Amino acid sequence: MKHEDIEKLLAEIQALECKTAKEVEEARIRFLGKKGSITALFEEFRTVDKEVKRELGRPLNELKQAATARIEELKEKIGESLASQGSGEDLSMPGEQLPLGSRHPVSIVRQQIVDIFRKFGYDVAEGPEVEDDYHVFEALNFPPNHPARDMQDTFFVSAGHPNPLLLRTHTSSVQVRSMEKMDLPIRVICPGRVFRNEAISARAHCIFHQVEGLYIDEGVTFADLKQAILLFAREMFGPQTEIRMRPSYFPFTEPSAEVDVSCNICHGKGCNICKGTGWLEILGCGMVDPNVLKASGIDPEKYSGFAFGMGLERIAMLKWRVNDLRHYFENDLRFLKEFESSVEI
Ligand code: PHE
Repeated sequence: MKHEDIEKLLAEIQALECKTAKEVEEARIRFLGKKGSITALFEEFRTVDKEVKRELGRPLNELKQAATARIEELKEKIGESLASQGSGEDLSMPGEQLPLGSRHPVSIVRQQIVDIFRKFGYDVAEGPEVEDDYHVFEALNFPPNHPARDMQDTFFVSAGHPNPLLLRTHTSSVQVRSMEKMDLPIRVICPGRVFRNEAISARAHCIFHQVEGLYIDEGVTFADLKQAILLFAREMFGPQTEIRMRPSYFPFTEPSAEVDVSCNICHGKGCNICKGTGWLEILGCGMVDPNVLKASGIDPEKYSGFAFGMGLERIAMLKWRVNDLRHYFENDLRFLKEFESSVEI
C-alpha cells in the first residue's frame, strides 16, 4: 500500500462529475461500496505494518471523508437542478401531436349543403331508413306498376304485404312525413342514406346519400324554385356559377326538371369532366304534384310548393374530381386523408 494509491484516488474523487442521480450512486458504489476501491484500501490497511499505518492512517481517513463529501455534494447539485426543472422535461415544449381523424368527403358536402339551406331558413328533418311502401312510393304518386317498386330496383325487407317494408330509395319519404306532421308553410331539407338494388360499379352503388328539399306555402312558383337552386349553386360552386334546367319527369313533381351547373373546371369551354358539354348535372327538381299535396292532407287549391333532390357522392365527385364511387365506401385511409384540410374540425 502506497501513498500514491491514496493520492490517485483523491484526485479522481476531486475530479468526479456526474449528470444524473444514477451516476452519483454508481460512483458511490465504485469508491465506497462493499467492493469499492476505498473500502479495499481500508481492508488492506488492516494488514500493513505499524509503521505504514502511522504514515497512511490519516490520509486514508481524509480520502474517505473527501469521497463521502464529494458524493453528497454531487447528490445535492443534481437534486437542485432536478427541482428547478420540475420533472426534468421542458414543459414549455409543444405536446406530442396525436393523429386526428378527418371528416369523410360525403359528410363534408352534406354539412356544406345543410349550412347553405339553413341560411335560407330551411329546417333539417330526418326519418327512418327502413320505410314502408306508402311513404316511399304511394304518397308520392308512384303508380302501382312503377318499375321502382320492382324487386330489381328496391330492397324489400318484407314483401307480399299491401304496405311492405323496404329500404328507402330516396329521402322524399321524409318529405312526406314532414308534410304529415309540420304546420304550413314548410321549409325542410332531408339529408340521409338511401338504398337501390344496383350492381356496384365506378358510377353506381347500392348505398348512397341524398339531400332532398321541400318548400310549401301559398303562391310558390317555378320562379321561386329556380331562384333557390341558383342561389344554392352559387354558394356551393362559386359566385360565377350558372344553372340550366332541362325538362324531366318524376311521378311526384309536375312540371319536373333536371338541373345542370356550368362546369367549374373548364368554365364552359368543355373538358373531360363535363364530357365536352360545359355543363354538369347536379339535381332533380319540380313543382310538387297536386296529388302529393292531397295525399298528405294539404289543399292544392290554396298551397303550392317545390321539391328538389341531389346525390351527395355525385356532388363530392364534381367538387374533388373523384373518378370512382367505390372510393367513398372502401375507407382506404390514403383516400380519406386527402380531405383532411378541407374542413376545420
Ligand atoms: N327523389 C328524386 C330521386 O331520388 C329526386 C327528386 C326530389 C326529384 C325532388 C325531384 C324532386 O331521384
